Amino acid sequence: MPRVLICDKLEPAGLELLKAAGVDVDNRPGLVGEALQVALHQADGAILRSGTRITAELLEDPGKLKAIARAGVGVDNIDVPAATRKGIVVMNTPGGNTVSAAEHTIAIMLALARHIPAADVSMKAGKWERGKFVGHQVAGKTLGVIGLGRIGREVARRAAGLDMNVVGYDPFLALERAGQLGIEAVARLTDLLPRCDFLTVHTPLTDVTKSLIGAKEIQSLKPDCRLLNVARGGIIDETALAEALHTGRVAGAALDVFTSEPPPPDFPLLKAPNVLLTPHLGASTVEAQENVAKEAAQLLIDFLQKGLVQFAVNMAAVDRAELEAVRTYVDLAHRLGLLQAQLAQGAIRKVVLTYRGDVAQHGTRLITASFMSGLLENRLDEHVNLVNAEMLARERGIEIVATTSPKKGDFSTLLQTEAFADDKPMVATGTLFGNQYLRLVQIGPFRLDTYLDGTLMVFPHRDVPGLIGHIGTIFGRHNVNIARMAVGRESPGGEAVAVLNLDNDPTAPALAEVRSHPHIHSISVVKLPPPGQMPVWFG
Ligand code: NAI
Ligand code: 3PG
Repeated sequence: MPRVLICDKLEPAGLELLKAAGVDVDNRPGLVGEALQVALHQADGAILRSGTRITAELLEDPGKLKAIARAGVGVDNIDVPAATRKGIVVMNTPGGNTVSAAEHTIAIMLALARHIPAADVSMKAGKWERGKFVGHQVAGKTLGVIGLGRIGREVARRAAGLDMNVVGYDPFLALERAGQLGIEAVARLTDLLPRCDFLTVHTPLTDVTKSLIGAKEIQSLKPDCRLLNVARGGIIDETALAEALHTGRVAGAALDVFTSEPPPPDFPLLKAPNVLLTPHLGASTVEAQENVAKEAAQLLIDFLQKGLVQFAVNMAAVDRAELEAVRTYVDLAHRLGLLQAQLAQGAIRKVVLTYRGDVAQHGTRLITASFMSGLLENRLDEHVNLVNAEMLARERGIEIVATTSPKKGDFSTLLQTEAFADDKPMVATGTLFGNQYLRLVQIGPFRLDTYLDGTLMVFPHRDVPGLIGHIGTIFGRHNVNIARMAVGRESPGGEAVAVLNLDNDPTAPALAEVRSHPHIHSISVVKLPPPGQMPVWFG
């Protein structure tokens, strides 16, 4: 029974879904430090919101942990590279809280424009200060939206409904596409800033977006501009904003998110004028929380029980149809990777994967990851799987080149792998017979047809009479049964390679005797999984 740790408060609907799917739910929100580390170590999956920080230190020895689901959007509280290095899938639930975050943005924009929080406090203090709280209409004003993703677009749509002029900026969205969505977009941030009466940010927090709106950008704003942040603390530089509010360089700000949550008592924006603060409430609605709780629970159920990967931020998504379509190729690639690792002479510097024919019609990222996993998993101390294999390879200076060609050759589908330990590649090519039977059809320059499971003995040799008899006699004496044999050769009497599928492992003395034949150049014993055994977590 898989176990899932709930790190932050999760709506009961999500917990019930997990339990109904037979998951052991460890519902302990608020754990920190060593207690959290131990609980993560004992879990197969974890669900969290923004309250829990998953650091590299916590993941140092992750135990059984295979997946983290963020019940929400932002994953900046998770050390994603550290999770990837440990082979842990990180997924989020985009969309589940989009509307709530957009509504919160509009709510704080209107509240700021009409001084609603201050007016409320004033009235509850027994005052009647109508003159003090004269506000501004938003209709006819210009709202600048930075980040035209899910939330940015919903905010833009709602603002347009309030008769605002909306201008967007998103370097990853073509201006024409923005136009199709009914949003005027500009190519440069500097073109946006001087036009805004209100400016709202809806990007993730990254190295690039940190302090995207800093002192310099604030200087470009109109003096009566008001700023909104329902994305992440720090996208609008908090120190620069506090300063601008004090000097009156900007007219106001409404913030839902902060660099440090909760902010420390001396946080400068707590005392700044014309500022409205909410404690990270953008996604805090009954509806959004139910959505993200159920979505996060389902992500983990699908992953832990079926190997499906959706909304992953550190690997390619694998939906049910795609998983079924590539499952056999994933298995084939993994075995070819294992084979290459055991045949390689020296450190592999580069791999070239060529997908030909039917396989080229599918997404090949997972298949490439599976090959890399096979190539590395017995060479590294670290736990290697489909999530971290490519990253670990690149960290070790292994170049990965993958090309696809829909053209069919002799086979309807082919995965050719070349591993370069020096300038000359070692070639191992596999195919599927009858869409399901894995076969090795080329090794080095030689064509052959052999099975890819169990113990293989691979030996390059000269094609001379009596060699098979030599091996058969020795293995007979040592009780090693040859299940199948395939030979590939240039020409009769020329260079050749043979692959024997053995029912049991030959001992070192048996191999030494076989190797003593003058026309056997070398012998490699390759261990592959039994038929049908998929790479780690790919159940
Ligand atoms: P999204 O991924 O749909 O949209 C983000 C957009 O930002 C993308 O279109 C991207 O191209 C754009 N972007 C990235 N870098 C940019 C840059 N340098 N300049 C301009 N645009 C840039 O994400 P979604 O769902 O819209 O969420 C946005 C953020 O809002 C999340 O990353 C999360 O941190 C935050 N959020 C906060 C909530 C809250 O409770 N306050 C609730 C939900 C999300
Ligand atoms: C998000 O990124 O989804 C929001 O910031 C919501 O965070 P929360 O789950 O802590 O409410």
